[in-house]
Amino acid sequence: MINKALLQRWRDKVVGLDTKVPLGNGMMATSINFDNAATTPPFKAVIKNICNFAPWYSSIHRGAGYKSQLSSNIYEMARYKVSSFVKANPSVHDIIFVKNTTEAINKVAYRLWDANNKKVILCSDMEHHSNDLPWRDKYHVDYICIDNKGRLMLNDLEDKLQKYGDKVVLVTIAGASNVTGHINPIHKIARIAHRYGAKLLVDGAQLVPHASVDMKPFYSPEHIDFLTFSGHKMYAPFGIGILIGPKEIFKEGAPEFTGGGTVKAVTHDFVCWADSPNKEEAGTPNLMGVIALSTAIDILTAIGMDNIEVYERALIRYAIRRLAPIPNIQLYGDIENIDNRVAIISFNIKDLPHGLIASALSYESAISVRSGCFCAHPYIQKLLGLSPEDIQKQIKTIKSPYAGMVRVSFGLYNTKEEIDILVDKLWEIALNPDRYKDKYRPI
Ligand code: ALA
Repeated sequence: MINKALLQRWRDKVVGLDTKVPLGNGMMATSINFDNAATTPPFKAVIKNICNFAPWYSSIHRGAGYKSQLSSNIYEMARYKVSSFVKANPSVHDIIFVKNTTEAINKVAYRLWDANNKKVILCSDMEHHSNDLPWRDKYHVDYICIDNKGRLMLNDLEDKLQKYGDKVVLVTIAGASNVTGHINPIHKIARIAHRYGAKLLVDGAQLVPHASVDMKPFYSPEHIDFLTFSGHKMYAPFGIGILIGPKEIFKEGAPEFTGGGTVKAVTHDFVCWADSPNKEEAGTPNLMGVIALSTAIDILTAIGMDNIEVYERALIRYAIRRLAPIPNIQLYGDIENIDNRVAIISFNIKDLPHGLIASALSYESAISVRSGCFCAHPYIQKLLGLSPEDIQKQIKTIKSPYAGMVRVSFGLYNTKEEIDILVDKLWEIALNPDRYKDKYRPI
């Protein structure tokens, strides 16, 4: 049971929850952050550990000094912490530190690419651009369809695997959508993909911060082959992300970025590459990012990912129940069965541009949300039911207001009281559309 006292203890771990920001009328109000799917605030302990470690910070993998050895050691040990957080296995997986999920997926796209044999990638209609665009120039990409509630259709996955047969090198899907919050059944998908000899990549950017993830052992047909996620969505900024994948994939050949730290030996006409994962981390590694992530994992583990999932699900249940009666509101995704949903809700209010609603929330109630297409244009187009002609018109004019949605996304520290403030404001906006039309320029 997550009671008020426990929630307060969680909230006490997060930076900036009391920050006051200016409203449009010049007054100040405590900011409410409902944009956690984009980025979360840091944990206090993350900032503290960065400062505590600063006197010891030194060059990684490149120095004989005490501080340098300590830095290298901390950096390498963090791979084990990341690994156990998502139940990877360091003897068969490489745990590679990258900038973010986008870089991680680009890396896999490079690594699986065979210039002489154009292979098939199956991604889906619900992907973030980061799990779509990196594949397009190197593979034949096909998209697993979604149903009218924005959920992946597993029978279409199976049909496409049958259609392409052994040409499919990878099925790559979001663990949870950054638009509807819908959680994909990743282990069921793994079972299907493996039956056809394809590997599975899970884009965990929106899942790993909100639920416990288990990559499962390789011998299980339900295992996840590749997992990617980002520190900045799990209370650990400083530009750190994770790519976990089978060691065999990174063993041979050159990395896509070459340079310092990637080699064992070099002459003018010869290179002997370092072993992975070091080979895959060109340049001086991001130790402060790793310290941030490692600290955040400690805190998330101490709180308990299952507790976070239960609490955030209660928030989403409450929010949907309170948002649904607002006049002219349209909530997207499956709003009846929310057990397969992380704490993200996207919506529109009829005849009011999404950007205007987002601006009004910011200027009048200090509420931060994101509006637009959330780097998932094809998914938004489908959820909005845009015709090919509508889409073409938008592409040609790229005019504002571009069709999109308003998105609220919760973190482990948000409260029902904050949701009440949002709901009250949305009622006011929905009941007085004329007062709001043209009042703000969309941000
Ligand atoms: N991928 C992040 C989002 O959905 C930035 O907002």
